[in-house]
Amino acid sequence: VTSVVGLGYLVLNATDLDAWEAFASDLLGLQVATRTADRLVLRMDDMSYRFDIRKSDNDGVEAVGWEARSEADLEALCQALQGAGFAVKREGGDAASERMVSGLARFDDPDGQAIELFYGLKKDKDPFVSPTGARFSTGTGGMGHVFQMVSNEEAYRHLYLDILGFRLSDYIDFAPGMYGTFLHCNPRHHSFAYAVAPTTGVNHLMLEVDDLDSVGRAYDKVLAGRAPLMSTFGKHSNDGMLSFYVTTPSGFSIEYGTAGVLIDDATWVPSRYDVPSFWGHSRAAS
Ligand SMILES: [Fe+2]
Repeated sequence: VTSVVGLGYLVLNATDLDAWEAFASDLLGLQVATRTADRLVLRMDDMSYRFDIRKSDNDGVEAVGWEARSEADLEALCQALQGAGFAVKREGGDAASERMVSGLARFDDPDGQAIELFYGLKKDKDPFVSPTGARFSTGTGGMGHVFQMVSNEEAYRHLYLDILGFRLSDYIDFAPGMYGTFLHCNPRHHSFAYAVAPTTGVNHLMLEVDDLDSVGRAYDKVLAGRAPLMSTFGKHSNDGMLSFYVTTPSGFSIEYGTAGVLIDDATWVPSRYDVPSFWGHSRAAS
């Protein structure tokens, strides 16, 4: 099975770009690459961008971009999707250059979330410079992970494991009858995770930095009221991430953390946890 190799970028719709710019740069430490009246493009590493946020009358995730290793892999992934009944659109040069990639395809997941597959994300000639001094752990692990609430366990299992080539990391039982499935496509413990829930859509996005102090400094800003705290500082059971959750100006949350475990497929054995966190991660009273 051909596999995607990582989370590459996110395209967001946002009603308040000013709020996003301040949140992204002052709190998360992302670098503003482009800012116009209707667009905010953000960097977090040597790639030209990782977030492309468009001014809109609604807030939400316009598209989740997954990276393929090559044109041949992108083609194989499109074939597999088509074979499984997904309507895949191979986008042309204009759409690809708008995304700053060499090749692009697009389809809707079973709940209607737009997913993009690409290869050849453009790097920037200038170094990434964080306004807060944060250094993001990306590289072979991609830009982070996405956790999505979904309507149908089987449909998502089929899409992500059988078609997009993800491997099972583990499960977490959140509550009786409700569990999360965590999947990897590179050394990052999970790049995609999902749970069946009544309200579907992207629940959170995780960004990882390379030191605890960057997490602590951002946490202090949240505690000082810079943005709404979603969940307190804590340590996740399965990936060991030391993190907190903050609500973005678009309403979904970002998990900001460090020290997540890496997976070696040669030795990894999936397991099951009965708690999402060893300590912390309490829902904040907001
Ligand atoms: Fe997470």
